[in-house]
Amino acid sequence: MSAQKAVLLSAVQPSNRLTVGNYLGALKNWVRLQNEYDCLFFAVDLHTITLRQDPKALREQTYRAIATYIAAGIDPAKATLFIQSHVPEHAELAWVLTCFSYMGELNRMTQYKDKSAKEGSNIPAGLFIYPTLMASDILLYGTKLVPVGSDQKQHVELTRDIAIRMNNIYGGDLFVVPEPFIPPSGARIMSLQDPTSKMSKSDPDPNSAVYLTDTEDQILKKVKRAVTDSGTEITYEDTKPGVKNLLDIQAAITGKSHPELVSSYAGKMYGHLKVETAQLLAQELAPIRTKTDELLKDLSYLDKLLQDGAEAARSRAQVTLARVYDRLGFVPGRYPRRSF
Ligand code: TRP
Repeated sequence: MSAQKAVLLSAVQPSNRLTVGNYLGALKNWVRLQNEYDCLFFAVDLHTITLRQDPKALREQTYRAIATYIAAGIDPAKATLFIQSHVPEHAELAWVLTCFSYMGELNRMTQYKDKSAKEGSNIPAGLFIYPTLMASDILLYGTKLVPVGSDQKQHVELTRDIAIRMNNIYGGDLFVVPEPFIPPSGARIMSLQDPTSKMSKSDPDPNSAVYLTDTEDQILKKVKRAVTDSGTEITYEDTKPGVKNLLDIQAAITGKSHPELVSSYAGKMYGHLKVETAQLLAQELAPIRTKTDELLKDLSYLDKLLQDGAEAARSRAQVTLARVYDRLGFVPGRYPRRSF
């Protein structure tokens, strides 16, 4: 065991198929991080039901997310890999944290504002307390580092605020206070149709994202249709977000620097850049797609692996939950008496 390594934890909502944005922005980095940190990676099915899900699709996508993690290189022998609902302590600690968070701070969350605005008058209450479940995910494991995109930073800040608040009331060692972790090589891949907004797995326009399930043909078509600008020169600039995005994709795959890539395109046209980006993507994704499909053919293997992951996660989560219940003054029973 790697007790001396810092705990690093991250998760994805299996609310749709994963995109190349999830892969280049998160997964590909996790594969590197699993050697340096004590890592926990999981699929947050409890979070997905804050909005209505089709049960069959949810189950399929959750398995697929886990299979994709493995296909992309997450090694279940190095990182703890599991599904959120398999570890009931997530929902239990979330309730406690809900009681220690304030309406005002939850109301300020931009993700809540964006998502609730789309729900009309029937806004699920789960959408409002979504961040306290995420805080639970993080605080259960003594997490120090949370690799997240900039859109999730506010949730990690809130997690810190709740942790500090409860530490002040119940003793400084109740929770480890986590930090957002933006890996130096983390790519922020943008929508192919609107390169000023992030590529999203829930974008209704299927041309806006390359899914990890897309075939070579589909990838080529989507990248060829990517929105660029009316210019002709290939440079890496904020004023050319579409071109910049394609260069970012190439940089994330090849590890080459932007100046190096830009100079290799001197005198070439946008068409070149698009076709070569599509080819690189297709090459990078093909083995992952094949391996994912292979893993999905044997669900009993995945079930076993997930059971092991959940057991490992649970035994750690229980230590935290027992400490929290004890400090709150709950009568022991489920967990042995500790401080009285
Ligand atoms: N809210 C995150 C997202 O939508 C997913 C998530 C849930 C998460 N729990 C987490 C990410 C814990 C990091 C750590 O992307």
